[in-house]
Amino acid sequence: MPFNCCEITDNAFSEAEAHANMKNYRRKGPANQTKLILVAIRSLGLKNADLLDIGGGIGAIHHELLEDVADKATHVDASSAYLKEAKEETARRGHSERVNFIHADFTDVASDLPKADIVTLDRVVCCYPNFRGLLKAAAEHSRSAVALTYPRETWYMRVASRVINFFQGLRQDPFRVFLHPVAEMDSLLKGEGFERVSLRRLFVWEMSFYRKKRAMV
Ligand SMILES: C[S@@+](CC[C@H](N)C(=O)[O-])C[C@H]1O[C@@H](n2cnc3c(N)ncnc32)[C@H](O)[C@@H]1O
Repeated sequence: MPFNCCEITDNAFSEAEAHANMKNYRRKGPANQTKLILVAIRSLGLKNADLLDIGGGIGAIHHELLEDVADKATHVDASSAYLKEAKEETARRGHSERVNFIHADFTDVASDLPKADIVTLDRVVCCYPNFRGLLKAAAEHSRSAVALTYPRETWYMRVASRVINFFQGLRQDPFRVFLHPVAEMDSLLKGEGFERVSLRRLFVWEMSFYRKKRAMV
């Protein structure tokens, strides 16, 4: 069976879930792992940057960075429910002219999209089986930095992902969570010319921040 990311993801992330996520963001601000990405990006001191947010969900990263770091953003997401919430909040903040929303699997549309200064993937690789294709395309689209969060490689996250996937199987829902090997993600990004400049850990999530290496002259 071919893997149809948008169809699977649209079913996995309901409108109710996206709405609850937005309510939470409006009440409490960005989630803790998202804050780690924001701090890492702000440490670069960029102004008027282009942002490419892959799997941005309700759009917390661009809602925040359009206030100080970014001039414009592209938000590519496979979930129409998340995109709807993100668009409404973008309009509420007066940012509609500065954000390009695309409903797609990023790997399908990457070749049509321009590069950006910063590329973010907050809790995205764990929803997608082909992390190599996704991260390679993400790295190829970044001029300066890539920030991503993913589940930590711990025994309790392995157990949790097996339990979630077991119940997904019982429900006959094809959506699965993935604990991709961190060392492989790291070596892939290094192979694309990036170096890891920051690694932060929470109980569930890990954040890695990569900067493009300067060419030797
Ligand atoms: C767990 S949610 C995280 C949303 C948001 N980044 C956050 O941290 O709240 C994963 C998101 O990644 C999106 N996604 C997963 N794989 C994708 C892909 N290949 N292309 C575009 N979006 C993708 C899903 O549609 C969903 O919105």
